[in-house]
Amino acid sequence: MGLSAAEAFDALGKDYETAFAGLTAQRDELDWLVTELSEGARVLDVGCGTGRPTAETLAAAGLDVTGVDVSPRMVDIARTQVPGARFEVADLRTLTFPAGSWDAVVAFFPLLQLTRAEIDAALAKFAGWLAPGGIFLLATVPADIENVEVEFMGKPVTVSSYPREVYRERLAGLGLRVVREQVIEFRPDHPGAAPEHDLFMAARKP
Ligand SMILES: C[S@@+](CC[C@H](N)C(=O)[O-])C[C@H]1O[C@@H](n2cnc3c(N)ncnc32)[C@H](O)[C@@H]1O
Repeated sequence: MGLSAAEAFDALGKDYETAFAGLTAQRDELDWLVTELSEGARVLDVGCGTGRPTAETLAAAGLDVTGVDVSPRMVDIARTQVPGARFEVADLRTLTFPAGSWDAVVAFFPLLQLTRAEIDAALAKFAGWLAPGGIFLLATVPADIENVEVEFMGKPVTVSSYPREVYRERLAGLGLRVVREQVIEFRPDHPGAAPEHDLFMAARKP
């Protein structure tokens, strides 16, 4: 059994941000999201990490950003680095909001340490939290894997995911329309991280 997400990311802290600083596709997706939202739009950043680049970019663009993360250390770093957004410690598996609370929900890589049943439940919650016309923006490593033990940046973790087509099907099944997707190859800048494929997928609620 690998470390919990809180244990792994409390240990990684800023090293995660440094290793993924070259992930330009993530910045491209954020730039796109900003063009789709109005000033002051409510954005939830799930698994916000250190707040960079996601919450920082979105808050600087005039959006009303709340970040949540299960790692207290990540939330501490985010609060220091991004004073223009709010941050809370929360586990997305137990997090609740009223239907229609958010104009966008961003989830860049917080689903990998969930089971498949938890991934399905999280996607359903995110879809329900979106206001009409709202956007869900997902990033993950697309793969047909369930409860696989891997080492990530030197930390043992247990990961699950789905192939790209399954995410597309899941989002469509939740009534969202996939409007944008890409898979890119990325090599994190860290000796303990292998090259990976990353999926970015955006879907809109009618
Ligand atoms: C791979 S990092 C990505 C951080 C940030 N989204 C980014 O792309 O720069 C994943 C983040 O999701 C958080 N996370 C993992 N499982 C979570 C859960 N169940 N609830 C909330 N956050 C979670 C981790 O603590 C970590 O900060």
